[in-house]
Amino acid sequence: VGEISEALERAKADGSERPPRRRRGEHASAAEARRAAGQTEELAPPAPDAAAAAVPGATPLRAVESALIDGDHPRAELCRHLAHRVLSEMERRQAHSVAVVSPLRGEGKSTIACNLAIALASLSRGGEVALVDLDLRRPTIASKLGLSARVGVEAVLQGRAPLADARVGIEDPSFDVYPSVEAQRSAHELIVLPRFATLIGELKKRYATVVVDTPPVLLVPDANLILRHVECCIPLARAGVTRVRTYRNMVDLLPRARILGGLLNGSRAPSHARDYYYYYGEKREGDAS
Ligand SMILES: Nc1ncnc2c1ncn2[C@@H]1O[C@H](COP(=O)(O)OP(=O)(O)OP(=O)(O)O)[C@@H](O)[C@H]1O
Ligand SMILES: [Mg+2]
Repeated sequence: VGEISEALERAKADGSERPPRRRRGEHASAAEARRAAGQTEELAPPAPDAAAAAVPGATPLRAVESALIDGDHPRAELCRHLAHRVLSEMERRQAHSVAVVSPLRGEGKSTIACNLAIALASLSRGGEVALVDLDLRRPTIASKLGLSARVGVEAVLQGRAPLADARVGIEDPSFDVYPSVEAQRSAHELIVLPRFATLIGELKKRYATVVVDTPPVLLVPDANLILRHVECCIPLARAGVTRVRTYRNMVDLLPRARILGGLLNGSRAPSHARDYYYYYGEKREGDAS
């Protein structure tokens, strides 16, 4: 908490950390968004033997939002570095599931959950990683990954469909996504059902690493209810957006033993990051130094 708080204070003091203001309808360039997207700090084993073969006929990864990592971009190395740290810590704890949490909305939970799953998948053999959209109130994973899913996790929790029907296989890198489709106003009621525990238990058995997207900790009880079943969490803050006090309030609500480590989304890349260009040829226009 101390480190994140200091980083947030630094970001606040440094106006350049703040995302540029945009007029309505004006979008960040892909290079600009990616530059910021990879700039995360913190946070595990090459996964155990849960490797199922990549599923034939899987959907090629088509990330729609520009803040999602592009596999051959230098920033993707930062995400893979983060993924490796997450994997190592989860292996040490013998854990198979991790939730990305933050105090409020728009701080990058879903973006980081997608980037983490993509990076984990690129470090694993096919079929080891699952990404689950448990922001049942405002699901965004399917749209971020350009998936048109018909059956969502909510249908499984309501007993309307088997888990297998909600799985969307992604290739390159290979991982499985369990999107939510229909927004659920009373999501907490689904999370407290025995079926929810069964669903998470099934996923933990089937995959080496299950990455979970969640709604804001301070706005609804869902994330904490989810953390009764998900073994680890990564609390994140967004540079220039999340207030220190708000971040602390969230951490106070989280089960301490489940925290893997804090993450600052959108912080400045470490100075050694410019050396990635050594491996990627000449510097591209718009890329950070
Ligand atoms: N590091 C980043 N750089 C640039 N854009 C980012 C970054 N992180 C997130 N974004 C963008 O900010 C917006 C909000 O991100 P995201 O949807 O991941 O937040 P969230 O915490 O999941 O919000 P909610 O709680 O509402 O679901 C998205 O448009 C996303 O593309
Ligand atoms: Mg989200």
